Amino acid sequence: MPYRIVSLAALFLAYSFLGWIIESSYKTISRRRGFVNSGLLSGPVVPIYGFGAMGIMLVDDATRGLVFPLRIFVLALLCAALEYIVGWLFETVFKTRLWDYTDRRFNIRGRVCLSFTLAWAALATVFIYFVRPFFERIAGELLGFAWMPWLLGAAYAAFLADAAFSFRSLALTSSFIAKLRARLEPFDLDELRSSAHGMKRRLLSAFPNLLKSVSDTIGQDLARRLHEEGGDWFLKALRAMREGTPESEALDPDYLSAVGDILLDEKVQSMGAIRHHDGSLLVHSLTVSLASYYIARGLGYDAVSVARGALLHDFFLYDWRTARGTGHRTRHPGIALENATARFKLNAMEKDIILSHMWPAAKPFYSYKESFLVSTVDKIVSTKEVAKILKELMPQGVKA
Ligand SMILES: [Fe+2]
Ligand SMILES: [Fe+2]
Repeated sequence: MPYRIVSLAALFLAYSFLGWIIESSYKTISRRRGFVNSGLLSGPVVPIYGFGAMGIMLVDDATRGLVFPLRIFVLALLCAALEYIVGWLFETVFKTRLWDYTDRRFNIRGRVCLSFTLAWAALATVFIYFVRPFFERIAGELLGFAWMPWLLGAAYAAFLADAAFSFRSLALTSSFIAKLRARLEPFDLDELRSSAHGMKRRLLSAFPNLLKSVSDTIGQDLARRLHEEGGDWFLKALRAMREGTPESEALDPDYLSAVGDILLDEKVQSMGAIRHHDGSLLVHSLTVSLASYYIARGLGYDAVSVARGALLHDFFLYDWRTARGTGHRTRHPGIALENATARFKLNAMEKDIILSHMWPAAKPFYSYKESFLVSTVDKIVSTKEVAKILKELMPQGVKA
């Protein structure tokens, strides 16, 4: 049956909307973390379903003479091909995976897998026998109203604006990932910051793989550098992170000259009596500072500011276990900065290292790559310390 352009345009939007309902419901139910607004666009449409429906309509019309199983087989092939091509396109153009089936059985390069193809084929069957006839009847009736083309025009204007905005946001995200990939070297921080804002929370929750590519990239970069250059510094950092910083250990003379004035301060020394994770606040801060300092030396970053900022990153001077319910997690970087600036002369990078070390649990975002480094090392060291406590608490004979 030939369709008028207006009718096709209306059906495309309607099917994209239907796809959004299906996907958002599936993700909201399966992830159990509140409502997920699925898809790349902000509006309630997922255009791949619109395109898919158009393709299925063509195949449906062309295969009318075939027996039922053969028709369904052709539809399944079409769904798989469409999903594969769109997945490949995003990986090639935006260097981004919007979905990833690599941990599912019978997948092809993570872009398609058997279980989802079968699910699409089932949906396509429901579509040709029930959804399509129903929607075409409704569209035929609605398009009889004179105001319908105007409403459709307005819907398309909103859809195109949304698409332009969302693709720009995705382009910013992939350039952020590409920058990290091109080693964590002098990137333009203002641009990095705006990219991080561009990676809208909604995009990240709809496509958790974006976040995974960022962390994978950082991990690969560090591993590569460990083998290529500054290996010695990285090994020292790894040892500091693995074994902690024994108070008796003779510290690197360059490190000592960078932080000597801080270590001699009596308030800093008082951190030795404040409990933190599995030891004292002083040992935690020293470990983060020393490990970050070694990595900074290996990467050619400002190691002195890293050592100083990291040593003071938790300079909040109270036992946080007695301060539960006071917003310690988000407030302590500000308190540490206030204490630190009252006693030491700090440069802008050192201040930023202290203030941003809790990102993303607390704002602000990093203004220096050195701040990103300290914040990452702090997270690794803290996780290690907490894991050690849990292991000690575990009853004898129970394996972790
Ligand atoms: Fe902290
Ligand atoms: Fe910390």
